[in-house]
Amino acid sequence: MGDWGLKNRLARMIKPSTGRSVMLAVDHGYFMGPTHRLEKPRETIGPLLPYCDAIALTRGVLRTSLDATSETPVILRVSGGASVLNEDLSNEDLTTSLEEALRLNASAVALSVFIGSKHEHQSLVNLAKLVDEGERYGMPVLAITAVGKELEKRDARYLSLACRISAELGAHVVKTYYCDGFEKVVEGCPVPIVVAGGPKFKTDREALELVRSSIELGAVGVDMGRNIWQSEHPVSMIRAVRAVVHENATVDQAVSLLESSKLPARKTPGSAET
Ligand code: R5P
Repeated sequence: MGDWGLKNRLARMIKPSTGRSVMLAVDHGYFMGPTHRLEKPRETIGPLLPYCDAIALTRGVLRTSLDATSETPVILRVSGGASVLNEDLSNEDLTTSLEEALRLNASAVALSVFIGSKHEHQSLVNLAKLVDEGERYGMPVLAITAVGKELEKRDARYLSLACRISAELGAHVVKTYYCDGFEKVVEGCPVPIVVAGGPKFKTDREALELVRSSIELGAVGVDMGRNIWQSEHPVSMIRAVRAVVHENATVDQAVSLLESSKLPARKTPGSAET
């Protein structure tokens, strides 16, 4: 079976026991710089690692902020080249080779595609080339459907188009955003979808609602960052997210879990919640 390695890598991230995954996204710095509460990646990541099924990051943060003894599967971001200081975020290229991803023992590589943006063509060709290389070495490719500045409207029509095109070009997993009519996005995408959290909601409940709706409508999980590590209680929050993703907890159950795990965690010396 020629694709054993690729399937095995996928199974490390999307857990065969539930068919779902909680991916922790900490790759924001590659275009946003030291994002609030991710200023010192090692401190943000450490307490959350035991609760995620995979961690999404760049090679720079991997090398500096994650011990090589870590057993957590790595989703290595391999696209970049633009920053928030530039008008056009879509001008990305491949920034890390597949050889480097293999050397770092990544379980997947991730890149953004900017459909409908100025650099749509180059991002899609990069995706296709990365898939060709990934297939050669058994490395799954996760396509991130990023929305360009001119495409603020994250509706089902746009996201369906972006996810479908990513899947057609060979992405093994697609990361997108939740939207009204999300079931249409899932329906039109023949590969697993994970949902990004986006900017921090006012409340943790709202983020858990997004997780629950995404799972209910067919996502296999989340690839979530700010709504976890910008929460006042990041460990309690990721545990609540896990309960929804892996145990089908309702929003009320997840919020109860979140609330009940806050106080004891705060009292424990050295706890991540302090
Ligand atoms: C940003 O480009 C990254 O793709 C993030 O990994 C993604 O947006 C998920 O993080 P968050 O849940 O904070 O939106």
